[in-house]
Amino acid sequence: DWNMPDYIAEAVASIREQVGTDEVILGLSGGVDSSVAAALIHRAIGDQLTCVFVDHGLLRLDEGKMVMEMFGKNLGVKVIHVDATAQFMGHLEGVTDPEAKRKIIGREFVEVFQAESAKLSNAKWLAQGTIYPDVIESAGKGKKGSHTIKSHHNVGGLPDTLNLKLLEPLRELFKDEVRKLGVALGLPHGMVYRHPFPGPGLGVRILGEVKKEFADLLRKADAIFIEELRNNFVDKNAEKLVSWYDATSQAFAVFLPVKSVGVMGDGRTYDYVVALRAVQTQDFMTAHWAHLPHELLGKVSNRIINEVRGINRVVYDISGKPPATIEWE
Ligand code: XMP
Repeated sequence: DWNMPDYIAEAVASIREQVGTDEVILGLSGGVDSSVAAALIHRAIGDQLTCVFVDHGLLRLDEGKMVMEMFGKNLGVKVIHVDATAQFMGHLEGVTDPEAKRKIIGREFVEVFQAESAKLSNAKWLAQGTIYPDVIESAGKGKKGSHTIKSHHNVGGLPDTLNLKLLEPLRELFKDEVRKLGVALGLPHGMVYRHPFPGPGLGVRILGEVKKEFADLLRKADAIFIEELRNNFVDKNAEKLVSWYDATSQAFAVFLPVKSVGVMGDGRTYDYVVALRAVQTQDFMTAHWAHLPHELLGKVSNRIINEVRGINRVVYDISGKPPATIEWE
């Protein structure tokens, strides 16, 4: 149990002592960990920190804009925004295997980040939002009997070829502590308490081959689902309202590259399918599908079909983990 202002003061002093007058770079993903690390390091060393935000074209709707606004504009952090959509899409063309997709996205991410870092020739440190559970997880890797079911590219991600020293100020913190720290540093509550989002992003939520056209459809459908989860409450009459977003651990839409027939006005449609997934879990190792109210599901389905031209059918995933995983790939 620790006192937040004291903790921040101590962390700030320790970062200053570690880096001195050196320059630091950090890969900002928009996720909680890298965001909190950026805010903390910025508090300590201000403009000695430069963040690189790589947009692989597989982010959620308006995510790039939000990150730039929050860090660049509101917090005054130096952020370089790299739109690498074309490069990622190019390399993903024709690739359908989930692990192959993950490898490509991870590899390109490192490539783009390295190219940007190389331009910041004064940087001596690479900052990362590694948290305590990541430290434990990577310590377990390679041990007898352990195997990766899915390669998580943003854990222990960047290679040593950059020749930078590692700065990992969140190494001793658990997720809930990182969140409290983020709020204390002035990050918006909604950002800090966001559902987890995988490093490969929509790349593993578009089944099979990834195309920009599919990503654009999925982004719109996903944003509608999330908006409705945030605006609808588990118990409307409760004293303290809890949204369905906060009542679920992870929720998202999945793009199925399958066409089915529908009717619209007096015409026939032949369009794609979107699946909705919402789960409740403690540790993401096992999970239950969320029992969302039928009216809420109905509303989300209507909105997606009416507002996203190109989608004419919405289904709800009622599979637990195990045997299904949370993501579809
Ligand atoms: P699964 O699908 O294995 O997911 O039940 C468990 C949790 O891990 C997340 N996940 C990933 N996170 N890179 C990540 O950073 C990945 O490749 C990846 N695959 C799954 C998933 O979103 C869920 O929270």
